[in-house]
Amino acid sequence: MTWWRREVIYQIYPWSFQDSNGDGIGDLAGITARLDHLRALGIGGIWLSPIYPSPMHDFGYDVSEHCAIDPRFGTLEDFDRLLQESHRRGIRVLMDLVLNHTSDQHPWFLEARVSRDSAKRDWYYWADPVGRGWRRRPPNNWQAVFGGSAWAWDAATEQYYLHSFLKEQPDLNWRNPEVQSAMEQVARFWLDREVDGFRLDAINWIGKDVQWPSNPSAAGRDRFRMRSYLRQLHQHDRDQPETHEALRALRKIIDQYPETVLVGEASADTPGGPAAFYGDGTDELHLVFNFRLLKARWGAESFRQVIDEWERAVPSPGWPTQVLSNHDQSRHATRHSRGVSERQRDRRARMAALLLLTLRGTPFLYYGEEIGMCDGRLRYRDLRDPYTKRYWPFSPGRDPARTPMQWDATPQAGFTTGRPWLPVSADPDRINVAAQCDDPDSLLTLYRRLIHLRRTSPALLDGEYEDLLPEHPTCLVYRRALPAAVPVDAWIIAANLSPRPQFVELKLITPTCRVHVSTDPLAPLDRPHDGAVLLQPEEALLFRVPPE
Ligand code: NOJ
Ligand code: CA
Repeated sequence: MTWWRREVIYQIYPWSFQDSNGDGIGDLAGITARLDHLRALGIGGIWLSPIYPSPMHDFGYDVSEHCAIDPRFGTLEDFDRLLQESHRRGIRVLMDLVLNHTSDQHPWFLEARVSRDSAKRDWYYWADPVGRGWRRRPPNNWQAVFGGSAWAWDAATEQYYLHSFLKEQPDLNWRNPEVQSAMEQVARFWLDREVDGFRLDAINWIGKDVQWPSNPSAAGRDRFRMRSYLRQLHQHDRDQPETHEALRALRKIIDQYPETVLVGEASADTPGGPAAFYGDGTDELHLVFNFRLLKARWGAESFRQVIDEWERAVPSPGWPTQVLSNHDQSRHATRHSRGVSERQRDRRARMAALLLLTLRGTPFLYYGEEIGMCDGRLRYRDLRDPYTKRYWPFSPGRDPARTPMQWDATPQAGFTTGRPWLPVSADPDRINVAAQCDDPDSLLTLYRRLIHLRRTSPALLDGEYEDLLPEHPTCLVYRRALPAAVPVDAWIIAANLSPRPQFVELKLITPTCRVHVSTDPLAPLDRPHDGAVLLQPEEALLFRVPPE
């Protein structure tokens, strides 16, 4: 089994993981110094959010040079050292590859905007205005994800350029073969340095309809959404078929480097949703994120629905991913627990860990998730991300999920000796690595245990997912098992997502099954079960089922 199916992948937001020189910004030397934490956790791969030189309007997702390291994070030598030290510990390293756009400070764009005849003009999308003077307007109604029109006026050359995100992030023209080959060179540069693959940013945006038709308006309640981007259906500005050609070409390159992987971020509206980017399961991306679980409301029915959908959508022989948190969304410890007690929040975070690590597919952990980090409670003046500022306080935005990693209970949480770029979250003293490291009942210990189990259990890794009680309103009960002919243990997961105790009746839970893990550290493991079991409020059990 390839490593990226077997291992858990951990997302590091470089700004926030560990600062090594007191400037308040995380860096590569800091990450290297903390690799043993990841090894003890059982992580087999890390994905670094962008570390390339950047004006940092979008905190690195606005790349101004592709084959170098931003001095805030260190040097190429620091990178090589991180790579070497990670590999020495059996940890693979994925870079973030931002293919849809560059920074407006990238030499390609600087050259493109010099004149309409520039050799690089056609590397980006340009369009003439409709109307003149004060009546001048962009060619269509497309909106940027971060708000406002997706078209920015370039006064010098009197044309608009397209930017799907910030205006400092002009979109590249992927129909231009020169763009494709330039990006291939970038990919090869890092592959030749022995990185183990890429997380592809916003990959479903690289194709658009260049006849520039306007998008239709959204219907129903979406018509009134605060973000203008959500008030339209994205029929023309992303998810176009030619994206698949570009991905097939990229896959051919990657396939020349054994054991490397492409993971795509595709919050797509295509008929197949994100799963369309697996291609036929062998010719496009190895892995695609599915954000529906991350967006699902806490509850057995909503979780079941998205899990089932995803199980059905991923083409065979494709392989699913599972993700609950990342740098763009509220952390799940916070998101699942608005308005509930701290105790309940902890119970839910533990249950989420068990689900994430026992579902079928490669789990992605977001830094700090393993200790139950919550969104930081920030004030407006703390904010750094333009998108978070724009919609504050009506939307939680992204900065709260990006606060520094909590290593210990000192004031700056062991992250920096200086002033952190975002304040350390005022979480309780126990939400840090030092406090949880040797505590057998901590969330960190639970993650370590579950990751170890997943890596060493053939059925948890590779077994089918079977929903055992599809009608149950409050409990999610499923089995992970290999075909009966393979004599290994199977697993049954029974999760009570309600705040009341629940009896689960199921013949398969025979007395020979053993409760291997409860997410409730105080609950007895040897409780009676014979065709039924009593689950505590917001408790999940993992049963080991011996082969027949
Ligand atoms: C998705 C990334 O996850 C997000 O952080 C970024 O702002 C956009 N793509 C634009 O690159
Ligand atoms: Ca630093």
